[in-house]
Amino acid sequence: MSKVLILSGAGISAESGISTFRDSDGLWENHAIEDVCMAGCLDTNEEATKKFYDARRVDIKAKTPNYAHKLIVELKQKYPNDISVLTQNVDDLFEKAGIADNEIVHLHGFLRELRCRGCNKIFEIGYVNQDNYAKECPSCKSKLRPNIVFFGEPAPKYEILTQELNKCELIVIIGTSGNVLDVTYFAQLTGKSILNNLEPSEAIDDSYFTKVYYAKATEAIGEIVEYVEEFLENTL
Ligand code: APR
Repeated sequence: MSKVLILSGAGISAESGISTFRDSDGLWENHAIEDVCMAGCLDTNEEATKKFYDARRVDIKAKTPNYAHKLIVELKQKYPNDISVLTQNVDDLFEKAGIADNEIVHLHGFLRELRCRGCNKIFEIGYVNQDNYAKECPSCKSKLRPNIVFFGEPAPKYEILTQELNKCELIVIIGTSGNVLDVTYFAQLTGKSILNNLEPSEAIDDSYFTKVYYAKATEAIGEIVEYVEEFLENTL
């Protein structure tokens, strides 16, 4: 468990050209959650759901990490045991910036993976369409699905989030509206806390945060990293 928890959301990838969910023109303005991202929609709306995630997967292929991803990866590599990197994002921009698989937790799944609906085996498929990879599980022949946590489904990696929250002394929140994860509560649990979003969110009470940056992540990240380094140097 680490002293510093860095928790990101869609906003950190916005400057790399990946749409957020709830900003104007975000993904949920253009698609209905209940059609493509709700528990059960693989039973009622399988083709549209697969098509939605196929499009997301193809979309991220050419996207590149921005300065914020890169600085966070550098920080993690400088203080491997003192920093935990958790993200709600299903893209691979931290990986493209050089983070190792075991140095990041994707709380809501990962676009480059499919999961078997029968045996739960996970398959890395890169950027191809689901059906082009396989129509059924190579092991047990059940149907495959995007390895994404839909609304109303269990998110097994929240257990890691809970463990990290119990131990961390500084939490850094970047690019999340707080509609899914209650980051105001997380700030209340933690000694020190930093919030960076483009603008205030109705779902976040920023008065609970030690420092607040309403700015693009690439503009705020330099000062955030300085703060984290100073915090770690003073507590190590
Ligand atoms: N820099 C920093 N923050 C930004 C930027 C930017 N360049 N652009 C947008 N933001 C902020 C917005 O101000 C907003 O608060 O990013 C946030 C994006 O919020 P959402 O679209 O709600 O994304 P997120 O909080 O990650 O969504 C959480 O909801 O749809 C589900 O499972 C999906 O993981 C996702 C979860």
